[in-house]
Amino acid sequence: MQPDITRRNALAGIAAIGVGGLVATSTQASSTESAVLTLDDLGWDPATSQYTLPPLPYAYDALSTAIDEQTMRIHHDKHHAGYVRGLNNALAKLDEIRWDHTDGKLIQHWQRQLSFHMGGHINHTLFWSGMKSEMSGGGGQPTGNLNQAIKRDFGSFGKFTKQFKLAATKVEGSGWGWLVYEPLSKRLLVTQMQNQQDMMFAGAIPLLGVDVWEHAYYLKYQNRRADYVGAFMGVIDWDETSRRFEAARK
Ligand SMILES: [Fe+2]
Repeated sequence: MQPDITRRNALAGIAAIGVGGLVATSTQASSTESAVLTLDDLGWDPATSQYTLPPLPYAYDALSTAIDEQTMRIHHDKHHAGYVRGLNNALAKLDEIRWDHTDGKLIQHWQRQLSFHMGGHINHTLFWSGMKSEMSGGGGQPTGNLNQAIKRDFGSFGKFTKQFKLAATKVEGSGWGWLVYEPLSKRLLVTQMQNQQDMMFAGAIPLLGVDVWEHAYYLKYQNRRADYVGAFMGVIDWDETSRRFEAARK
């Protein structure tokens, strides 16, 4: 029975934050070519029925033109790890209580915890792999279909950049700035997210996100969030973002 339980957990968690169009289960897609994210990307371990923290896809100092090494170490090893722990804990708690219908408040509490921590895990996984060093080709502009779509939906790459930076910089409190694909209108949109999941609309498929929680930039930039967001633009992995765009459109 255990495999059924773990699969239910994973799918329940994904459904909780409305990212069914974002994450493919390993049975749906084992290749990252056909999904924005897979459970493998998220470190899902069917043997232990838990998510694990995937390593950074580059050295801690690889993005030092934009993000310093100490921030990367603390952000990935402590903050992101905390979301993974919280996610596993919420899934375990829900498994304990969701079939016991005597206390609905507990279900609501742990569902919120699940939403927050799974959002944190997914957001950070997309964040790390959405960047690469300038030496490796980070920054610049997208090409191909994504470039065309940005021109169509924002007017120009420059106008997109202006909107994205403004949205991210002006997030109230802690949150994220995102470039998302909206599958009903088949258009790109820039949107804000508060915390790890709030304000994201159903169906939006995140393609590129910048973390604007203070833990993402405060050591190097202090209160200068706009400077941090500007530096982030120089380490965007547009190849990976284009891959996600193509996967989202399928
Ligand atoms: Fe973060």
